[in-house]
Amino acid sequence: MPTDGFARSPITRRRLLGAGVAATCVVLPKWAHAQGRAADAPDGVRVLRAKPGTARLRGADQAPTPVWGYDGAVPGPVLRVKRGQELHVRLINELPEETTLHWHGVRLPNAMDGVPHLTQAPVAAGGTFDYRFKVPDAGTFWYHPHQYASEQLDRGLSGLLIVEEPEPVAADRDVVLVLDDWRLKPDGQNDEASFRSFHDAAHAGRIGTHFTVNGAPAIQVAAKQNERLRLRIVNAANARVMPLRFDRARVTVMAIDGQPAEPFEPREGRVTLGPGNRVDLFVDCTLEPDSSAPIMLQDARAEVPLGRVVCEAGAPLRAAPLPDPKPLPPNPLPARIDFRNAHRLDVPLDGGAMSQTMADAMRAGREIPGHGIDPRARLWTMAGQASSGHHGPPMFSVKRGRTVMLAFANKTAWPHGMHLHGHHFRLLDNLDDGWKPFWLDTVLMGPRETARIAFVADNPGKWMIHCHMLEHHDTGMGAWFEVT
Ligand code: C2O
Ligand code: CU
Repeated sequence: MPTDGFARSPITRRRLLGAGVAATCVVLPKWAHAQGRAADAPDGVRVLRAKPGTARLRGADQAPTPVWGYDGAVPGPVLRVKRGQELHVRLINELPEETTLHWHGVRLPNAMDGVPHLTQAPVAAGGTFDYRFKVPDAGTFWYHPHQYASEQLDRGLSGLLIVEEPEPVAADRDVVLVLDDWRLKPDGQNDEASFRSFHDAAHAGRIGTHFTVNGAPAIQVAAKQNERLRLRIVNAANARVMPLRFDRARVTVMAIDGQPAEPFEPREGRVTLGPGNRVDLFVDCTLEPDSSAPIMLQDARAEVPLGRVVCEAGAPLRAAPLPDPKPLPPNPLPARIDFRNAHRLDVPLDGGAMSQTMADAMRAGREIPGHGIDPRARLWTMAGQASSGHHGPPMFSVKRGRTVMLAFANKTAWPHGMHLHGHHFRLLDNLDDGWKPFWLDTVLMGPRETARIAFVADNPGKWMIHCHMLEHHDTGMGAWFEVT
């Protein structure tokens, strides 16, 4: 499984940009105002209905697929808010079962985190819940259910939350790319039987075979000469690791998992996203008129095109490309992390096909009944425990402000993407406690890899740590910790 990408050793391959570039004044065109603001009710509440719908996942000329989506759409509507402002979303559950809304990557108050049983009661079919909080960080975030998440996400429930910088950013236009994969039957219906696949849960998770960008088979983005696009990309798949390659275009990584990074050009235009990862890229349209820059996804056997940026003939947007970008304006993250008194914990990840954990589950003859994958099917463990992380005792508890260092050791034959709620963390170097020049909320690990992370536990409440390969989470790879 290729995990070659930004999470590996970017220091050696990144090229620092932006140093010494004179301040440029870029007039921002309409995009900043073009996409609707979040409110659609007179009192400023954005109503979001989780409900069944249909989507033409295989193209306009193919039969549509029945889905579940926010406002019935796949992906759900892009929500926009400015940093520091309040987001107020009223979730109306028009699904035939319970759900919740989780704001992936947002450092919000615990009661708004949308984790069933841990931070709120699940929202019953027909019920509603108001999510209301100030967004502390500008960047690209993602919303999705946390109840029966593996199945609800794979039916289509998720959408992008864009938090705008209050300061101007030197890009002309936002382009959202929600990447997903689907396991469809020949008639285009979602292969529902495999939602409960024991086999998938014990291996890589439910990997789909049809790719979509924003709910369609591919995307074509037309751009003017010398226009600068800001691509906001999320891997919304349940389990697929997405190694992307940007061919011909010069791309600059500006933010990872919603947080500004030191801008760098990824080697060979390659960026790998695990489930739940986001990346913001700047792409300057500098190809000859009428030529295009493909966006490729590495599948198990071949590279498949997800879309392309087409540099149009016609009047250029400006006479020359913009200068190398400066970093995005910073978010209010901890300026320093004090390691002296850190709470240190080893978190071995174990289980899955061919493991002892799995052999035990098989011997006990556990069935996968009813709804979703039964969490009692303990196929995976974190620090020796198999849990959903929605119930049970905490993995650890720390006082507010304490530094936490977790050493994940993936002892399995499968990749895992460990996601932390309510905080962003630093990825530590292997040899010392130095860290990579970016923040993450989800760290992708290949088979047998280790990853050490550090963060300041500065957000009080009950927070989850879990694998974002959602079938792994369902079958044991979840935990929570408390900040008091
Ligand atoms: Cu994106 Cu706990 O989830
Ligand atoms: Cu996993």
